[in-house]
Amino acid sequence: MANRWKNRLRERDATPESVYLNRRKLIAGAVAGAGLAGIGGHARAMPEGLEPNPWEDITEYNNFYEFGTDKRDPQKYAGQMTTEPWTVKIDGLVDRPADYAFEDIMAKMTVEERIYRLRCVEAWSMVVPWNGFELADLLELAGVQSAARYVAFETLYRPEEMPGVRYPVLEWPYVEGLRLDEATHPLTIMATGIYGKDIPNQNGAPLRLVVPWKYGFKSIKSVVRITLTDTQPPTSWNRAAPNEYGFYSNVNPEVDHPRWSQATERVVGGGLFAGRVPTPMFNGYAEEVAGLYEMMDLKKNF
Ligand code: MTE
Repeated sequence: MANRWKNRLRERDATPESVYLNRRKLIAGAVAGAGLAGIGGHARAMPEGLEPNPWEDITEYNNFYEFGTDKRDPQKYAGQMTTEPWTVKIDGLVDRPADYAFEDIMAKMTVEERIYRLRCVEAWSMVVPWNGFELADLLELAGVQSAARYVAFETLYRPEEMPGVRYPVLEWPYVEGLRLDEATHPLTIMATGIYGKDIPNQNGAPLRLVVPWKYGFKSIKSVVRITLTDTQPPTSWNRAAPNEYGFYSNVNPEVDHPRWSQATERVVGGGLFAGRVPTPMFNGYAEEVAGLYEMMDLKKNF
């Protein structure tokens, strides 16, 4: 299927931002209408009509409630978070449960560049050039047992470095979950960089989940624990407001949030697209992921 990775980009080596920025106009032009374009031997694709946001948009307008609820709080306060040393506990229904050191993980993973849309449930969006590896590869390292059905994720909880956890906005630590087939889908990555640089703390250093067809809150930051389970795990936003945030939280313009429409979105730093634009089903990744939900009523399983 030549078009399979329409909204996905593969590149074995990270691209420096300068090179990237110099190329992107050309690439955007080449891709318009074509879906896929091979440039310099790399297959490159970009959601039509959108360009990756600049570094400043991506790193200065954030949601990371452990550091406060204002969009600028993470940039101001996340620098306090110690990210070295860092271990990820992988446990539950796996053959090799252990505390995996971040360096040991990185030594075994293949980092690629992936340009993905990010659609927040608050109805704003960006395009982010992530660097990361497929979550499926990390799970394989731990050896998923056949009884596993779901994957649970947990963010670091360190009150002395996280001013936001003083407030009971959410139950801490922040937790998330995916069905195993969602977690092992090739679009699902653990991001460790942006624009070829280490991922900044405010974006979820040293590694965070990215699930591009789901609302941004599923993409849990600064992950310290991954647990394979046979039952659906709790998720922070579902716990806080179950009628507003479902377990699946797939981007769906036909299912509104009880308090606002999800049919359109505001493109952050939009320039030409400063107005609202329509939100595509599964955030533009329907071709790749719709099959995961064929038998499901997406209004009930929102
Ligand atoms: N992860 C944790 N631990 N805490 C958070 O508050 N916010 C989520 C998600 N991951 C959040 C989190 C939300 S609502 C969004 S939209 C994205 O992170 C934002 O990612 P970004 O700041 O890198 O754009």
